[in-house]
Amino acid sequence: MSRLASGVSVVAVRHGNQDLAMTATSLVSVSLDPPTVLFCVHSDARLREAVEPGARWAASILGGDALAAADWLATPGRPAFGQLATIAHRRGEVSGAAILDGASAWLECETEWIRTAASHDVVVGRVLAAARVPGAGGAILHFHGRMTTIP
Ligand SMILES: Cc1cc2nc3c(=O)[nH]c(=O)nc-3n(C[C@H](O)[C@H](O)[C@H](O)COP(=O)(O)O)c2cc1C
Repeated sequence: MSRLASGVSVVAVRHGNQDLAMTATSLVSVSLDPPTVLFCVHSDARLREAVEPGARWAASILGGDALAAADWLATPGRPAFGQLATIAHRRGEVSGAAILDGASAWLECETEWIRTAASHDVVVGRVLAAARVPGAGGAILHFHGRMTTIP
């Protein structure tokens, strides 16, 4: 699977007064009508409990300038509180979740259902809002164990 080049996103959720976020390559499109996506989350990930069915969350599809954010939000042991303090973001209107300024596009979703698959849980979400970010270019790809930017 390391030979499968994957786009890098950040999934985020507002949980109480806390922003939880993590880097993910597992975000994929499931259906256009109705618009539906899924991502896979490790059962030990800190945001797992916050994305139960009915919860709303955001996915930032990262542009080429967001490599540092992607690295940080994949770093185990980073503080849970304030993990977005150094990452420019705004709050999504529909989900209240963080949308990174470094996104080239974003989605706000509501979890429809979750199914456990080995160490991970598959989270299927209905897309409630989505947009491209005008002027934001490039992407981050994960390939052969490394993240690289493409223009
Ligand atoms: C390129 C890349 C892609 C990742 N994709 C996923 C993913 O799809 N699902 C997942 O659970 N963890 C994924 N991870 C690992 C999480 O980002 C990492 O474990 C993160 O620290 C989890 O958040 P937490 O420490 O708050 O639990 C990925 C890491 C990297 C570097």
